[in-house]
Amino acid sequence: MPRMRLDKLLSHLNCGSRREVQAMIRSGRVTVDGAMETDPAAKVDPDAAQVALDEQAQCYRAQRYYMLNKPSGVITASRDERHDTVLDLFPEEERRGLFAVGRLDKDTEGLLIITDDGALSHALMSPARHVSKVYEAAVEGTLVSDAAERFRQGLILRDGTVCLPARMEILSEGVETLVRVTLCEGKYHQVKRMVAAVGGTVVRLRRVQMGGLMLDPALPAGAFRELTGEELTLLQQSGEETS
Ligand code: URA
Repeated sequence: MPRMRLDKLLSHLNCGSRREVQAMIRSGRVTVDGAMETDPAAKVDPDAAQVALDEQAQCYRAQRYYMLNKPSGVITASRDERHDTVLDLFPEEERRGLFAVGRLDKDTEGLLIITDDGALSHALMSPARHVSKVYEAAVEGTLVSDAAERFRQGLILRDGTVCLPARMEILSEGVETLVRVTLCEGKYHQVKRMVAAVGGTVVRLRRVQMGGLMLDPALPAGAFRELTGEELTLLQQSGEETS
């Protein structure tokens, strides 16, 4: 795993804001591998370094982060009386405290982050951060010839909702058209409604990327795995970006 700044690591560990942890480090409250470190910019390996604040060990893996390849047919909720939820895909003993970052429709597949880190979830979902989401959609019907341009300019949906500029690329054309759509917001049924506004009907939808994090192509639908340290860093950086 790449080394990271000590102040950044401690603020990811929820020890305080970046400014607060810088003050803690400068005042000598932090040790790395048993030695006092007073430079907030010191680089440490988050997986290997023994970092302590006021002699309390700080564990980088205190929180859980999973990549789920959501299958069609389950709802994005923690519990539901009538439907299977994304958390039902996890063993019962692991579910406690976990939730999904954002939501995908019942029939949408693909990348869903499952975590117990509320701060990261909040950062990734904040409308102000404009974290990008990339979808692949199979579309029936004939798209208007300037569909990509209309996405680029910011579409107005049939009900008058104004969308931020987005990207649509046609990947292949045949009986169905395969498109890749990149959004930096998350309105209700947004991809389906944007595609409808340019003449198509989405018949299959899959999210393949969120911020810098890509869905692992080796992860079967319905399966999950822990994020690697590198993937977690990518995600955390995505939540920090503003545009
Ligand atoms: N857009 C949609 O229409 N559905 C989803 O599940 C996600 C984005």
